[in-house]
Amino acid sequence: MTSRVLVTGGAGFIGSALVRRLLEEGHAVVVLDNFWRGSMHNLRTINSHPSLTVIEGNVMNSDDLQRAFDALGGVDLIHHLAAINGTKWFNEAAIDVIDVNINGTLTALRKAMEWGARFVLASSPEAYGDNEQMPLHHEDTSVFPSAASHQRFSYGASKYLDEVALHHAVHQGLDARIVRPFNAYGADMLGDEYGQVVGMFFQAIRDQQPMTVHGDGTQTRSLTHIDDIVEGFYLAGSLDVGDDGTPLSGRSFNLGSQDEISMLELAATMNQIVGSLAVDCVLAGGYPGDSKRRLPNIESAQTALGWSPKITLEAGLAMVWEGLQTGP
Ligand SMILES: NC(=O)c1ccc[n+]([C@@H]2O[C@H](COP(=O)([O-])OP(=O)(O)OC[C@H]3O[C@@H](n4cnc5c(N)ncnc54)[C@H](O)[C@@H]3O)[C@@H](O)[C@H]2O)c1
Repeated sequence: MTSRVLVTGGAGFIGSALVRRLLEEGHAVVVLDNFWRGSMHNLRTINSHPSLTVIEGNVMNSDDLQRAFDALGGVDLIHHLAAINGTKWFNEAAIDVIDVNINGTLTALRKAMEWGARFVLASSPEAYGDNEQMPLHHEDTSVFPSAASHQRFSYGASKYLDEVALHHAVHQGLDARIVRPFNAYGADMLGDEYGQVVGMFFQAIRDQQPMTVHGDGTQTRSLTHIDDIVEGFYLAGSLDVGDDGTPLSGRSFNLGSQDEISMLELAATMNQIVGSLAVDCVLAGGYPGDSKRRLPNIESAQTALGWSPKITLEAGLAMVWEGLQTGP
């Protein structure tokens, strides 16, 4: 069945890939984005699609959300991705991070309740805070350090509160689901210092500059290809009930690869892929509060969504490198 779908933050990295998928599946889509970090460039392959409307607006502004509703004549599903994301911002712009990530979610949730629209929240593994128990089960405890130590958890704590607000809305009758992407990577990722590790490393290779590895490089991540992440969002929004027949509302789904890799190993793997263009690594100070490991338990996504990551890290990185060679 085709739906009318609002994607907040739809001009961003994950959002634009999700919009592409929703259009391919025949849905009518409206993007609401203030282009704080997203861009029309991310939507370049679909921007003239007849079922796509792009609205420049602020997700914290209920009138802007209403414009999105009016553009489609109704909204059946909201994928809420608008947020301030990017590690460097968490310390540098903590108040804005908290403002957008909490107030944007509250405004979008209230509209979903008013419209009776299903809601999918893009949360984050950062919502677990400092929890060092790995792998992270979907219902594990969140652990936050003293707020005086640093502001990094402006992001993780705001995502945690987003989840609290979502559960409250579920108790009020809203059909809402949570997804937590674990380090998505893909060709449309920013390569600047506010971006993500794979984008930054490939950017360094393209510029023939050393790759800057934060900390001692032994910290690990579960890097997950954008196509796998989009599949998880898509299933979380489109399934009425779980694959196993269980209800999906009020559930959370960790979307992440099981291939845990250290940043030094990642740099070496990427150097192998680019062959003669390989560059050196330099170690630089990390960000305060950076987690040492991040590995998801994906049991709930596997059983209820029928989701598991399909793209290995080597294959995914090779696809990104190829995309960067041929893309505009
Ligand atoms: N990329 C990842 O690995 C990852 C991991 C965990 C969680 N997430 C979450 O997934 C979502 C998408 O992440 P992404 O990597 O695509 O980030 P992104 O920064 O590329 O996308 C976020 C989008 O939100 C927009 N935005 C910011 N403030 C806004 C506002 N006030 N009103 C309207 N739009 C606004 C930005 O312009 C951008 O297009 C975010 O909620 C993020 O927190 C991403």
